[in-house]
Amino acid sequence: MADSPTTPSTPAYGAGLLDHHLPLEARRLRALEAFADPGSRAALDACGLQAGWRCLEVGGGAGSVARWLAGRCAPGEVVATDLDISLLPRGVPNLTVLRHDVVGEDFPEASFDLVHARALLEHLPEREDVLAKMVRWAAPGGWVCVDGVIVVTSADGPRNACHRCLEALVALAGSMRADARWATALPRLLAQTGLEDVDVRCTPGRVGPGGNADLLLRLALAQTGPAMVAQGFIQPQDLTECARLLDNARYTDLAFLSLSAWGRRPPP
Ligand SMILES: C[S@@+](CC[C@H](N)C(=O)[O-])C[C@H]1O[C@@H](n2cnc3c(N)ncnc32)[C@H](O)[C@@H]1O
Repeated sequence: MADSPTTPSTPAYGAGLLDHHLPLEARRLRALEAFADPGSRAALDACGLQAGWRCLEVGGGAGSVARWLAGRCAPGEVVATDLDISLLPRGVPNLTVLRHDVVGEDFPEASFDLVHARALLEHLPEREDVLAKMVRWAAPGGWVCVDGVIVVTSADGPRNACHRCLEALVALAGSMRADARWATALPRLLAQTGLEDVDVRCTPGRVGPGGNADLLLRLALAQTGPAMVAQGFIQPQDLTECARLLDNARYTDLAFLSLSAWGRRPPP
């Protein structure tokens, strides 16, 4: 086990645009948590999370889910992993923080009662292999729960600068070998891995004043907007027009869905 941050070993993740040391990244991860935590907690509760469970939180980011799991499963143990563990919580007695590359590294089969990841697999070109590994790490009768963030774009094309920026986010993700719509496949893929009792829930992310995903979109655009312009996915004025729209007291729109899917390894 390592307990110090090291250089990421999977160059594809974020292509340098989502590194933890960037000035806005910790805030962006916390905005993601504020948007997605209620849905993740509901999904984890639906798995029957209980005291005494051994839990694995993969790609834990800034750690809100890991911390919550540690509170809920005590005296059980939580292992929280990431390529960069600098933002994960320290000093929680039943929480072990581990630098671990989910693509290149492993855990022994059947090590955990619950294996969870959020907003991770869609970033990884090896996402289906990683999903299969996560299933193997769950004990028979144990649960696998995966949350993915879907960027919402309208089927009939962009109507305003905010829509153009959302389409650019999808294109930028593609250029980084991520897939901003992959999570829609999660229920089917979980069932195909042999999990039982597969179920799904969704949290809409609204932008505009007071929206639960408004800060997340603003920070995502502040951080990745220059790269989207440089790659020709939007014009610089799209970013300023989008910011103006988001500031408009009457603007409201759907920008993201956080989709949670879970299932159980067949009991012995
Ligand atoms: C978009 S963030 C999501 C963080 C957290 N799961 C959440 O939803 O709040 C993705 C996280 O996965 C981590 N990550 C990326 N590639 C990884 C890999 N190969 N193994 C483990 N963690 C990885 C990143 O460092 C980052 O912290």
